[in-house]
Amino acid sequence: MIKNDLFLKALKGETVERPPVWMMRQAGRYLPDFMKLKEKYDFFTRCRTPELATEITVMPIHQVGTDAAILFSDILVIPQAMNIEVEMKPGVGPWLPNPIRTAKDVDNVIVPDIDETLGYVMDAIKLTKQELNNEVPLIGFAGSPWTILCYAVQGQGSKNFDIAKKFCFTNPVAAHQLLQKITDTTIAYLKAKVAAGVDAVQIFDSWGGMLSPVDYQEFSWKYIQQIIDALKDEIPVIAFGKGCWFALHEMANSGASALGVDWTLSARNARYLSGGRITLQGNFDPARLYSPPAEIKKMVTQMINEFGKDQYIVNLGHGILPDIPVENAKAFVDAVKEYKT
Ligand code: CP3
Repeated sequence: MIKNDLFLKALKGETVERPPVWMMRQAGRYLPDFMKLKEKYDFFTRCRTPELATEITVMPIHQVGTDAAILFSDILVIPQAMNIEVEMKPGVGPWLPNPIRTAKDVDNVIVPDIDETLGYVMDAIKLTKQELNNEVPLIGFAGSPWTILCYAVQGQGSKNFDIAKKFCFTNPVAAHQLLQKITDTTIAYLKAKVAAGVDAVQIFDSWGGMLSPVDYQEFSWKYIQQIIDALKDEIPVIAFGKGCWFALHEMANSGASALGVDWTLSARNARYLSGGRITLQGNFDPARLYSPPAEIKKMVTQMINEFGKDQYIVNLGHGILPDIPVENAKAFVDAVKEYKT
């Protein structure tokens, strides 16, 4: 049904003529047309207006030529729907005026009705599917419960999320209650996304690597596994954990269709740690897109040779940086399209 089905084939582990390519955070950030919309509409207006979210989602498909689209939205629409106020401050990033700090704060967090609170996301998915006209698949996403807790408790971005960790280690009962509420909300949210038409979902555990391997199991992976269990029979699930190489073995046995890896491990190590049977996605250092286009192309070819063309989705190891020249992003994508075995 979808004309370019390379991405879906790779998720199933099928043989392909070349691997598919997309870039984390490809919708927005570095595209000049996005910057123009950014001047006119604030962040959550862009998320909540289906026409704008659709326009931004399809930009990289037309302008850079990726093999999959990812819906323009944010992982922080989940805490918003759960009664936790979230603002996006220009130049600062996420800002939560009333962060969660006590068991009582956790009691005030709700597991919302998804249609009522996040119906605008489903409207954006339906409109985007129409606009994409089955050219490429559409990815839906959510943050991992741990990564959402990081923002909900810390109240803003952080280098080490010390306040979030302190909350978990001094008040584990409340922390687990919060994680479970986020998990329940996320499962209902992703199921609604599937019903609205997304073709795959990705869970972003951007801050999983802040935890020790033991704490990762307790505060992050356990909840991601619940989400995978609830979704995997309906739709392919990609689990991306930044800095979570130590958990790849467990992640490979989770029922996820693919695992995202960052650039701090070699293809060989990623294949070894994940057992060699699951599709991997990654892992170009986003800062390497500052290199000249010719060098980017050489490095991408090398990366595909190392991962192998099958059971592989070419991507960055984390989100694209805001000041990457469009021609460099294009060189990254073109190198994959020109790949010959
Ligand atoms: O491809 C896409 O960009 C799709 C949409 C998308 C956004 N955020 C839009 C956005 C996606 C997939 C995300 C995920 C997200 N959001 C993550 C996980 C991925 C990652 O990068 O680790 C996280 C941790 C967030 C939280 C968040 N939202 C932060 C830390 C920031 C500020 C800094 C920044 O630019 O990333 C945001 C704001 C945000 N989300 C912007 C965009 C395009 C920039 C602000 C703006 O456009 O006004």
